[in-house]
Amino acid sequence: MLYKFRLPAFRAFYLLGFVLFASTHPVYSQQPTPYTSFKPGGEWLDTDGKHIDCHGGNIIYVDSLKTYYWYGEHRGVPRGASCYSSKDLYNWKNEGAVLEKGTIETFERPKVVYDATKDQYVMWFHFDGNRYTLAELGVAVSKSPTGPFVVQHHERPNGHESRDIGMYVDPETKKAYIGYAADHTNRTIRMVELSGDYLSTTTNDVDIEAHCEGPGILKKKGTYYLLTSGCSGWTPNPATYYTATNILGPYTKQGNPFVGDAGNNSFNSQPCYIFKIPGYRDAYLYMGDRWNGGGRPDSQYVFLPITITEDGKMELHWYKEWDLSMFTPEREKR
Ligand code: DGJ
Repeated sequence: MLYKFRLPAFRAFYLLGFVLFASTHPVYSQQPTPYTSFKPGGEWLDTDGKHIDCHGGNIIYVDSLKTYYWYGEHRGVPRGASCYSSKDLYNWKNEGAVLEKGTIETFERPKVVYDATKDQYVMWFHFDGNRYTLAELGVAVSKSPTGPFVVQHHERPNGHESRDIGMYVDPETKKAYIGYAADHTNRTIRMVELSGDYLSTTTNDVDIEAHCEGPGILKKKGTYYLLTSGCSGWTPNPATYYTATNILGPYTKQGNPFVGDAGNNSFNSQPCYIFKIPGYRDAYLYMGDRWNGGGRPDSQYVFLPITITEDGKMELHWYKEWDLSMFTPEREKR
């Protein structure tokens, strides 16, 4: 028997109201309460409420999209590079795996830059075998910031071993450089200039006699600051910074920039990148990994402000919680 179901008008009205309320009210969604600060070393969830799995990477800001993109090692499944996007640096949406490592045995420390000449995103990474003896750089490209990135080639830059990498694009010249832990299991850091399209290394490649992993670079008032960790596997150690007036050196060793670091282990972290936050004066964001002894997918991040003091010293201080109000917006007078 055919049966007609009729909902009285007032019930339909209440049902519609409930559906609208449920779909817009946060209590019915999986998202955690939006963050308004950084909590270094703390639990950091993406907008789906899942642990952010994005280690050893970097952040870029894409002005045309008014969006930050955070790239890093996706240490869970699938192994490779992950990408998260954000409008405020606190709340990150998972954009998924932008490069699956496939047959690459070791894929570490991806760094992405935008190349305006070919309108594409270029990712460099540590390409290796399972015992870190291949020691190469790999490069991949994508037309979109959210991938997919396609591997182009891998190489030993000018014949040198290459493991941990850092990248720096000079905002004035747009030239890009890779600082890489090189030779004799990372006994030194070399700095190599890239071609204009960022797709290959040039022979401008020098030993800058800095020790020895996790290089991060910033520039202030014509001085380059290179921050590096020591070499102790996944265990944190005291960092060292160096300064130079030319990115290719010579560099002068300055010391440990972590102030009041009781554990003498870079606040239990290893550097992976220094991000200059656009729109704020001298806003340098230290990005560090808290590997927790073994590069697990659920290891944490230590993000802290980097200060360059009036007399040109690099300093990092511990904050249990902090936010961007610590920096002066560029348009405001001091
Ligand atoms: C230290 C490096 O910084 C990490 O990226 C990773 O390669 C570990 N060593 C492996 O022990």
